[in-house]
Amino acid sequence: MTTPASASRPPRAELHVHIEGTLEPELAFELAARNGVALPYPDPASLRAAYEFEDLQSFLDLYSAAMSVLRTEADFADLTRAYLVRAARAGVRHAEISFDPQAHLVRGVPLEDVVNGIAGVLERSEAEHGITTLLIAAFHRDRDSADALDVLERLLAADAPIVGVGLDNAEVGYPPGLFQAVYARAEEAGLRRTAHAGEEGPAQNIRDALDLLHAERIDHGIAVVDDPELVARVVAEQVPFTVCPVSNVRLRAVPALAEHPLPAMIEAGMLVSINSDDPPYFGAYVDDVDDAVTAAFDLTREQRAALAAASFSGSFLPPDRVAAYL
Ligand code: ADE
Ligand code: ZN
Repeated sequence: MTTPASASRPPRAELHVHIEGTLEPELAFELAARNGVALPYPDPASLRAAYEFEDLQSFLDLYSAAMSVLRTEADFADLTRAYLVRAARAGVRHAEISFDPQAHLVRGVPLEDVVNGIAGVLERSEAEHGITTLLIAAFHRDRDSADALDVLERLLAADAPIVGVGLDNAEVGYPPGLFQAVYARAEEAGLRRTAHAGEEGPAQNIRDALDLLHAERIDHGIAVVDDPELVARVVAEQVPFTVCPVSNVRLRAVPALAEHPLPAMIEAGMLVSINSDDPPYFGAYVDDVDDAVTAAFDLTREQRAALAAASFSGSFLPPDRVAAYL
């Protein structure tokens, strides 16, 4: 008899989760009522039923629309707390959480309300949820990079408690090189650097994120398998890849979990972790992702432990803190 995956779930870090993407339909309706915002669905079940996506853009359209309910510091605090409660149940012991400052600034929500709402809850996360956390400000690659640079300067001037920067939203047509100045400024300011690359776009975006942005970590990066030379490089350099297999299936970047390149990435010796990305939208928190890949690829206990260990070693924690988790 095989042991259910949940019985032996190893502790892990989650390195790739968008806090706005953790908004459950029930909380969306609660916040909509609190803020007098109308959602174009009658109830949470109808909103959840709309989570059928053709590609990344069709998801981003709904994701952006649902975000309209997030208006106050308390909303961002409630959102963050709800994620931490669920992540603790998933066995998450450390979380590196992204937020999209531009998505809120364009709607007139003050930057400090967003940052204070999220960071105020993260400050108490270790004590209240047993999860250490780091916060990442992600910039929209389909907006002008001058806007990203301006927002970065505002975050730095406010001494916002961020560990690093990321790059997300629509990938195709917006290559990493557009954001060289933003990443150079982040590096100069001592911030860590990750970037979505090779999710819907080509392997060249991964190479450019490494070479032009000095990205230390790659989010998704599944296109790497199209470029054996690049695979050899990221294996040699042990570049962490935060892979989100269920997200990739739900956004049709791959046709089915069975065809996902995760096993090839592991087999090649890459430093890969598994992550949720936007859990309610894809119907899977990181424990569900663990169950799904364990079943789809018949992963051994050792392979699952290696994925969990890579989630800590691919984190932005200092080496002594990583060692304490391994
Ligand atoms: N923002 C939230 N989820 C995303 C994803 N999977 N790709 C790009 N941007 C995102
Ligand atoms: Zn993502």
